[in-house]
Amino acid sequence: MSTSTSTEPDSQVVGVYQRMTALAAEHSAVNLSQGIPEPVYDTEWRAALTAEMPHAHFQYTPSAGTPGLRASVAGLYGDGFPAPVTTSGCTESLAAALFGLADDGCDTVLWLEPFYSYYPGLARITGMAARSVPIDLTGPAPRLDMDRLAAELAPLGRRGVLLLNSPHNPTGLVLGSEEWAAVRALVERHGCHLLIDDVYRDFRYRGPAVPYEALMETGRTAIAGGVSKSYAAAGVRLGWLLAPGRLARRAETAHMHLSNCAPDLLQRAAVRVLAEVDTARLEGTAGAYRRKRDHLLAALTGSGFTVSVPDGGHFVMAVPPADRPWGPEPAVDLLLDAGVCALPLDHFFTRPHTPWLRFSFAVSAGQVEEAARRLPRARTTRNT
Ligand SMILES: Cc1ncc(COP(=O)(O)O)c(C=O)c1O
Repeated sequence: MSTSTSTEPDSQVVGVYQRMTALAAEHSAVNLSQGIPEPVYDTEWRAALTAEMPHAHFQYTPSAGTPGLRASVAGLYGDGFPAPVTTSGCTESLAAALFGLADDGCDTVLWLEPFYSYYPGLARITGMAARSVPIDLTGPAPRLDMDRLAAELAPLGRRGVLLLNSPHNPTGLVLGSEEWAAVRALVERHGCHLLIDDVYRDFRYRGPAVPYEALMETGRTAIAGGVSKSYAAAGVRLGWLLAPGRLARRAETAHMHLSNCAPDLLQRAAVRVLAEVDTARLEGTAGAYRRKRDHLLAALTGSGFTVSVPDGGHFVMAVPPADRPWGPEPAVDLLLDAGVCALPLDHFFTRPHTPWLRFSFAVSAGQVEEAARRLPRARTTRNT
């Protein structure tokens, strides 16, 4: 049923992004292989950095973050939540949380498969064993079997950490209200911890937001997020972790040993950007993403791909058309034949799986359009 962490070197797992991007550049392909968001808020970031530059200092800042940024992040979640700890991105928030949970006696992390390919490395460096529950990809859209999740979680008890990402990378699964209620009940019944990877929180096209408040009431829930996706600033490297008292302290200690603190200038700028990019603008960006998703879905299905429809996030998963032969690396064939670069998902699975490719629609509408124009070429090989 479950599998342990891949033994493949983590560098090879993360190296696939660089390899595909280099191939895309070499062959002038439209690069849909990476999770880099369209830079829709660069103007706001530049203005914020310029305005804050004269006031910034270049020394250590409080490890938990500047009071200004902590207040801004707290404002995203509302009253009654634990104070956020500022980190160097959601990746570091996840690492700090897992180190903190390991310190507290947890030894196994359970996530959904396919999974974000950085998760196994994060489990490994924090000394946790990894297990996974497969997402059902046989239907038109991804689906989670809650009975299977319950069966996997039960034996872990208080040693277990359930790591959930909704909207989910790479499937775009958005958990429904009943599923979240069941997750809450499982956390309460088994005493495990719930770690929410909230990095795609503002990219839902269908389905509810995470019921943060209800989940926090368990006293065993932590939320890891960051500016990378919602504020289109993956290179700014700012994230946050909201966790109950003891875990927050342990995670903050881990963060102090990982990166110590985040730069003052970036935190100051982020306060401005979080205020300026309000809910209405975030919703506007999500609407534009939804249109790009629909365009890409139509192009893929029109070109013979089998797709899984995502309810959120930045990606469409698709299987190449069966009416032509594919070599051992369909993503490379597609890149060479059609000029569209997708990500092979071998590193997102531990079980035998269909040769899914992941296409990002976080690129510009123009790039989606160009990919849509090229995709029909996927049906013919170069030599035919
Ligand atoms: C599911 C998931 N979690 C975390 C991250 C990393 O976020 P950050 O850039 O804030 O470290 C990504 C980035 O693609 C992601 O897809």
